Amino acid sequence: MVELFEVLRKRRSVRLFKETPIDRASRDLILEAAIRAPTAGGTEAWLFIAVESDEARKRLHRLLLDAHRTYFTRLLRKPWTDERFDSWVARFGGDYCLAPLYVAVFADLRDRVYIDPRIEEIWVQQSCAAAVENMLLAACDLGIGSCWFGVSLLIEDEMKGLLGVDDPNLRLSAVVDLGYPRSEVKATPRRKGLEDVIKSV
Ligand SMILES: Cc1cc2nc3c(=O)[nH]c(=O)nc-3n(C[C@H](O)[C@H](O)[C@H](O)COP(=O)(O)O)c2cc1C
Repeated sequence: MVELFEVLRKRRSVRLFKETPIDRASRDLILEAAIRAPTAGGTEAWLFIAVESDEARKRLHRLLLDAHRTYFTRLLRKPWTDERFDSWVARFGGDYCLAPLYVAVFADLRDRVYIDPRIEEIWVQQSCAAAVENMLLAACDLGIGSCWFGVSLLIEDEMKGLLGVDDPNLRLSAVVDLGYPRSEVKATPRRKGLEDVIKSV
């Protein structure tokens, strides 16, 4: 209980890493945590692709930077200029989001169980989200930093091309980066306290 809460309080998104690789045992513990997540209907309808080779990681890093550019310059209601994005990324010396390991999480809708496709797709995505959170917590417990990249959805086709996934029933849910943080990790403060988000009826 105490240890879990320590991890919950300590975890934060990490986007700058040392080059130290993640060993296989740690990787597998993080993935074991993923598949321990609750899964709607017990379907375990997920697929995890570890991106480990130098070539694939560099290509994925490039794609993630492009996706972040799209996010900041085209998705926000108050968009950034390209110049602002470029100078922001330049502050990190080109290594922003460059990780020794990425895991791409796919919602696997190849074997459907439910009559209603909409509800099935939501449940499978929610199960993947639970798996991602388990990964982030397990990583934190091991002293490994991580970040959940939702912007990967903006580059789903490119991601599938990179990973050799061409089945339309495999839908990208998230990409997680994993690595040893370059600097000390301190939890990101919350803007809203419990009193702001809890209502009793
Ligand atoms: C669904 C989801 C998508 C996210 N996508 C991104 C992303 O694309 N890029 C990024 O840098 N952080 C992303 N994050 C991380 C959030 O920015 C981060 O969790 C939030 O700012 C709170 O900070 P903390 O994780 O350090 O507590 C995402 C988080 C969630 C839950």
